[in-house]
Formats: sequence, C-alpha cells, structure tokens
Amino acid sequence: MKFAIAGGTGLTGAHLTTAARARGHEVVVLSRRTGVELLSGAGLAGALDGVDAVLDVTNVTTSKPDVSVSFFAGATKSLLAAERRARVPHHLALTIVGADAAPDGYYAGKLVQERLIANGPTPWTVLRATQFHEYAAILFHRGRAGVHVAPHGRVQPIAAQEVAEHLLDLAEGQPAGRAADLAGPREEDLLEIVRAYAHAIGFRGLIAAVDPPGAYGHALRSGALLPAPGATLGRQTFAEWLDALPDA
Ligand SMILES: NC(=O)c1ccc[n+]([C@@H]2O[C@H](COP(=O)([O-])OP(=O)(O)OC[C@H]3O[C@@H](n4cnc5c(N)ncnc54)[C@H](OP(=O)(O)O)[C@@H]3O)[C@@H](O)[C@H]2O)c1
Repeated sequence: MKFAIAGGTGLTGAHLTTAARARGHEVVVLSRRTGVELLSGAGLAGALDGVDAVLDVTNVTTSKPDVSVSFFAGATKSLLAAERRARVPHHLALTIVGADAAPDGYYAGKLVQERLIANGPTPWTVLRATQFHEYAAILFHRGRAGVHVAPHGRVQPIAAQEVAEHLLDLAEGQPAGRAADLAGPREEDLLEIVRAYAHAIGFRGLIAAVDPPGAYGHALRSGALLPAPGATLGRQTFAEWLDALPDA
C-alpha cells in the first residue's frame, strides 16, 4: 500500500515510517523538513496522488488552547481538503485518551481535530493513545538550569513504537471510526517514571513534585487520563522500555 505520513519526521512518525517500510509499504513523508507546510498547504499539491491512507501524527508543543486549536484545525483542514482532491479513501489520526477531560489547554486542539475528522469528507479512523513512555523523557528534558519538576498523576504509558505498529495495523484495514483506546500494560505515577528515567540516565539531583492547576491537573490526579474498559493494551512496561534505552 502507499501511505502518506504527516509528521513522519517526529517521534511517532519516525517509528511509523520505519515500520511501514519494513512491512513493504511505500511511504511519502509530509513535514516541513520534506517541504510540506501543512498550515499553509504549501507542498501538498500532488503529494497525495495514489495514496491509500493518510496517517496524521503531526504535533505542536503548547499548553495554550488557542495555539493548539489553530495548529490542529489548520493542519487537519489542509489534509482533508487535499485528500478530497486526490480521492484518498482513508484518513487516520492519533489523539489522546481522556482529551475531553481537560479541554482547557493542549487537548482543546485534539478535540477540534477529532471533530473535523468525524465531520469531514474522508472515511476515517481515530486512535486515542495514552502518554508514551517517552513522555517521561520529554518532561525531564524540559527542565532548565538544573531545575526539574513533574506532577504526580495517574497514567498508563505505552511505548511510541507499539503505538506506531498499532496505527499501522489500522491503516492496513478499513476505516473504523473511533478505535478502541490504546494504552500501556500497567498504571504508573507520572512523577515516579520521570524520576526513574532521570536516574537511569545518571541524573542525581532533585525532581520536585509540582501539580499543574486547572482541568489538566485534576484529570491527571483523578484517573481521567486512564484508558476506558475494553482498551487494547501494549506489552512493554515502562521498566522494560527504560532497560532497553541505549543511554540508560
Ligand atoms: N507524546 C505523547 O505522549 C502522545 C500520547 C498520545 C498521543 N500523542 C499524539 O501523537 C501525535 C504525534 O506526537 P509526537 O510526539 O510523535 O510528535 P513530534 O515528535 O512533536 O513530531 C511532530 C511532527 O509534526 C511535524 N510538523 C509540525 N508542524 C508542522 C507543520 N506546520 N507542517 C508540517 N509538519 C509539521 C514535525 O515535522 P517538521 O518539524 O519537519 O515540520 C514532526 O514530524 C500528536 O498528535 C500527539 O497529540 C502523543
């Protein structure tokens, strides 16, 4: 099959691209680094010719709802319009478990993305996944000048590689609407996995607990970001992922 992977140079996208090519598929990567700017649509013309499915794993790093909405709405509208012109039969996107529990920050954009896809012209599949194991590393490396903080929170993290393989399975099938949630094999405390990651890479300083305010903080603490019953579960635990890290 021929897949267009929007955000194919990112964390999930790189795993997806490698996995798709390993399974013998043809891959077109859409990102600014490959000459495609999704907000303006520049570089999209012709890029979807002959494509069997578009897999959207683009991202913006922000906690501001207006920035998130503007990015995910803009990128999704560009992709859906290009898919209609090229008669692409399947649009897939990766969103986040519990996005509707905290729509006052980044998640606002994910909800708009889901809504546009559900009301759009292309048959679709939306996969909601929990936080990646890699999110612990991302949170740790956001620290500046030796000051590191992270929140306590109920999460059930999964390896980005397993998310990519599962999204690829869905892309090889028919449009399925909202797929079952995808989560890791066990619940963890977000602060403790950030600390475990930091320890594994040799950091011996303090990582203070700082609880985020607002709906996101409440969702983290209450378990609203945990998967719904019936979720598909990945295999690799956080500890196993940590053991497999090359720099651990
Ligand atoms: N991280 C998590 O824990 C988690 C959990 C569940 C779901 N998700 C979802 O997974 C998705 C992927 O996240 P990620 O962490 O893998 O992303 P990421 O590493 O931040 O990669 C983002 C990708 O988007 C591309 N991109 C950004 N702006 C663009 C633009 N204007 N035009 C074209 N391409 C653009 C980037 O490439 P260029 O810079 O080359 O443009 C890059 O390839 C997100 O939608 C996120 O909501 C993440």
